[in-house]
Amino acid sequence: MSGNLGIQRLRAVSDCIRQIAALFGDKKDQKVRVRPKNRKPTTFPCNAGSRYSFTALVWIILGFFLVFHLVSVTQHRENKDSREIQSRGSPLPRTMFRELEVVEEMKNINIPPPRGKRSPRAQKRKTNRWLPPIIEEFLNEDSQLRHIFFPSRKNAVDPMKMTENDSLYYFPGRVWLDTDGNAIQAHGGCILHDERSGTYYWYGEYKDGVTYRAHRKAAARVDIIGVGCYSSKDLWTWKNEGIVLAGEETNETHDLHKSNVLERPKVVYNQKTGKYVMWMHIDDANYTKASAGVAVSDRPTGPFQYLGSKRPHEFDSRDMTVFKDDDGSAYIIYSSENNSVLHIGPLTDDYLHVKNVVRRILIGRHREAPALFKHHGTYYMITSGCSGWAPNEAMAHASESVMGLWETLGNPCVGANKVFRQRTFFSQSTFVFPVQGHPGLFIFMADRWNPSDLRDSRYVWLPLVVAGPSDQPLELGFGFPLWSRVSIYWHRKWRLPNGWSTLR
Ligand code: GAL
Repeated sequence: MSGNLGIQRLRAVSDCIRQIAALFGDKKDQKVRVRPKNRKPTTFPCNAGSRYSFTALVWIILGFFLVFHLVSVTQHRENKDSREIQSRGSPLPRTMFRELEVVEEMKNINIPPPRGKRSPRAQKRKTNRWLPPIIEEFLNEDSQLRHIFFPSRKNAVDPMKMTENDSLYYFPGRVWLDTDGNAIQAHGGCILHDERSGTYYWYGEYKDGVTYRAHRKAAARVDIIGVGCYSSKDLWTWKNEGIVLAGEETNETHDLHKSNVLERPKVVYNQKTGKYVMWMHIDDANYTKASAGVAVSDRPTGPFQYLGSKRPHEFDSRDMTVFKDDDGSAYIIYSSENNSVLHIGPLTDDYLHVKNVVRRILIGRHREAPALFKHHGTYYMITSGCSGWAPNEAMAHASESVMGLWETLGNPCVGANKVFRQRTFFSQSTFVFPVQGHPGLFIFMADRWNPSDLRDSRYVWLPLVVAGPSDQPLELGFGFPLWSRVSIYWHRKWRLPNGWSTLR
């Protein structure tokens, strides 16, 4: 659809240019003019000989921009209208997930007045004046609002015991149990769809250990245990496949020594080598090593062999992801230059190294937690701001090519209430993957971090839809973008369209 729109828009623009050119060209075309002999040669290659040529050129350029802008706005309006008509009317391919686009409101959160009795940790935090009150509440284990952010384990999603009514439903923020009845440990994770076995694998940080701070100013942490892996056929019932890349207990010089940091593991399958390749953020407890590590395995369930870490392109690299394109090429995207810029660069054909090519994007924006995906030839990305374990506002971005110019589309969150939308539903992006058989429908995976007990961090999975006109003008280009809006819809409870997995 965006392709047609683009062609229509270009046609309209070129028609208008022709008309403007005709306006200026007409005078001299109609009169058959005799070239004055003593006229000075002009340096303009076009229209030489006309004394209107410079003015005409300026008008043409101005006219071009004006018309392009008008056409953009009109197309945007038309698009909006047609979307409204579509949503009222006839069955469309997207009708199967229309219910996921219902805007589910949530009443505003009333922040309770400070209470006398708080935990010693919360009392210490009182001095953190810079924290917004809602984040104070989020971080306060004794908050009256705790149940909103971290529902009790009594409400856990247990696929083995759920009643028919709740079967296959996602409940963002609730504890999610695996088939053994244990809370899933796959934080900062990703999903790999293994086409060979028709199985989904969920990899993530296995954080089932004690949360502590290495020193007073350090971020809350759990020692490296390893990367957890879970398998599923329905994206809801997850079987624990164990730790597929384990932390190192004794060798203190090893990247994976328990005292270090292993975050945001991402796994991609390499068709050429037949290997599963895992990239991850490797750091020391103070986050000064800022490197990307790589591991490889013959099977999705490991064990992965750790190959080492590097600073990609010799730059610091913290939050990161890997994106595999349809043509088999893969890219690493990481927060760099002290988290102020995102870097994107291609991986080698075997996915084990970073090529010596890099593009700096979203310069000076301080974005992290990148999650990249593709729809109808356009690349999209969700990022978060940088505020440690505390949630902040997500942004969607888009580009015509991975290594191209990335535009920011705005906050993709829809529904709930303003406070929830401004804090990405109290979570941070980690991965976005397509729902098979439903072009335009994706699952947005995010982490609701619990820095007082990181193992109890929750998963926020929500439907992400790429459809409808963008509602923000481009920042770097002119007018409205040709690509669609990215929306992440809040739902207290939701499920994938019936029979989605059989539509592959
Ligand atoms: C966040 C980052 C997480 C983790 C955390 C530590 O900014 O996204 O992956 O590194 O900081 O404070």
